[in-house]
Amino acid sequence: MTSPSTSPSTAPNVTDPSLYLDGMPHGRFAEMRETPGLVWHPYGDGGFWAVTRHDDVRSVSKNAAVFSSAVGHTNLWDLEADALEARRSLIDTDAPDHTRLRRLVARSFTPRNVRRWEDTVRRIAAELIDEFVAAGGGDWVELVAAPLPIRVILTILGVPMTDAGYLVELSNYLVEGTGDRQSIPPDAFGNTTELRLLPFNSPASHALFEYGERLGDQRRRDPRDDLVTALVQANEDGDRLSDQEYRNLFHLLVFAGNETTRTAITHGAIALADHPDQWRRVLDDRRLVAPATEEILRWSTPVMHMRRTTTEPTELAGTPIDAGQKVVMWYGSANRDDRVFDRPFDFDVGREENPHVAFGGGGPHLCLGAYLARLEIAVLLEEMARRSLLLERRTEPVRAPSNFVHGVLSVELAVATGRAAIAPPGGDSR
Ligand code: HEM
Repeated sequence: MTSPSTSPSTAPNVTDPSLYLDGMPHGRFAEMRETPGLVWHPYGDGGFWAVTRHDDVRSVSKNAAVFSSAVGHTNLWDLEADALEARRSLIDTDAPDHTRLRRLVARSFTPRNVRRWEDTVRRIAAELIDEFVAAGGGDWVELVAAPLPIRVILTILGVPMTDAGYLVELSNYLVEGTGDRQSIPPDAFGNTTELRLLPFNSPASHALFEYGERLGDQRRRDPRDDLVTALVQANEDGDRLSDQEYRNLFHLLVFAGNETTRTAITHGAIALADHPDQWRRVLDDRRLVAPATEEILRWSTPVMHMRRTTTEPTELAGTPIDAGQKVVMWYGSANRDDRVFDRPFDFDVGREENPHVAFGGGGPHLCLGAYLARLEIAVLLEEMARRSLLLERRTEPVRAPSNFVHGVLSVELAVATGRAAIAPPGGDSR
């Protein structure tokens, strides 16, 4: 076994969820980026190789044969084989299974298909912004950032709006399951499955699986123009999703885009409130909506890390790695790497080169919902700009104690609207 050179014991432990209550530990990540080779980071009974530089994150992401998503788990801790199997979906599968599954669903998420959902996204974004303005501001997470992505994905999937409240409740319990506190008993929602076999060890996963199965059955009998119908009918040369594959994918889709997009929208709003000069640039030139969206993704980096496990001995950044070792890519670090990003700690809505890795570092697992997430952020910016909305921060963000999602639980923002509030003296904000 390669003998790892451990980071100094006084260094902050980047896996400690409470560390993130004060924000991303950028100082520690900068030290790791400057350390030659990879840094061995202790974790549990063992540890992992911390991959913190942009180039190295891309190398790991693109070499899925050596850096596996199917072995162990894509989170820091290992799962037992039966638990991994029960919840396995796209994200923790390798080729050829991954290639097959991804092919069956990719068609629904191409830029062209995603554009079909633009009107839906715009209607939901406009409603939320109007309510936020009418209330004179408030908790941005509760009023805008949380409801937008969940309403969008439920509408796209074809979940009837009468059930939306129930699914929002389930997804909130799943978010809770990513931390170390569960407020519902193991048998909630009639669950009889051992919790370790359920995603996020949450009985809400059982309820979500059941709901997805029922909706899938309905759409098989009575197809509609929605994503569930597209999934149950997906057919590539006679190949289809099995019932379990469909069920796990339904679960993944409800969850994957939810907290992530919420996080991007929240950090984005905070950044625009804290950098009114940058927001004014967008108001002056709407062509900046696209680069501003990418900058919000880089700046927020909602998913902090993904893990891979080596299938054979290999080497990265000059560090030999044994087979079966954990390798963890820290996206928030790569997105502040000054080898790639000019002035990485500046929030710059006009950034020309922005090869951020918020959706992963490339390769087969690159986020399936990337175009949808981009659409949601861009449409929200457009709707804010259309109303000449100016956000002002009233409180410090209350951050989530998580080493996985760069979450914000709440932040109070106030609003000012109209050109007088934002136009520079004598300037035109269009
Ligand atoms: C700002 C919002 C989002 C961020 C930052 C984000 C980030 C990520 C990341 C980092 C990965 C893993 C990449 C890897 O392992 O190489 C991923 C995978 C995935 N994401 Fe997203 N995501 C977002 C929104 C969404 C949305 C809206 C959906 C669904 C509608 C979605 C569905 C998925 C799925 C299904 C995968 C697994 C893909 C695969 O393994 O082939 N994501 N995402």
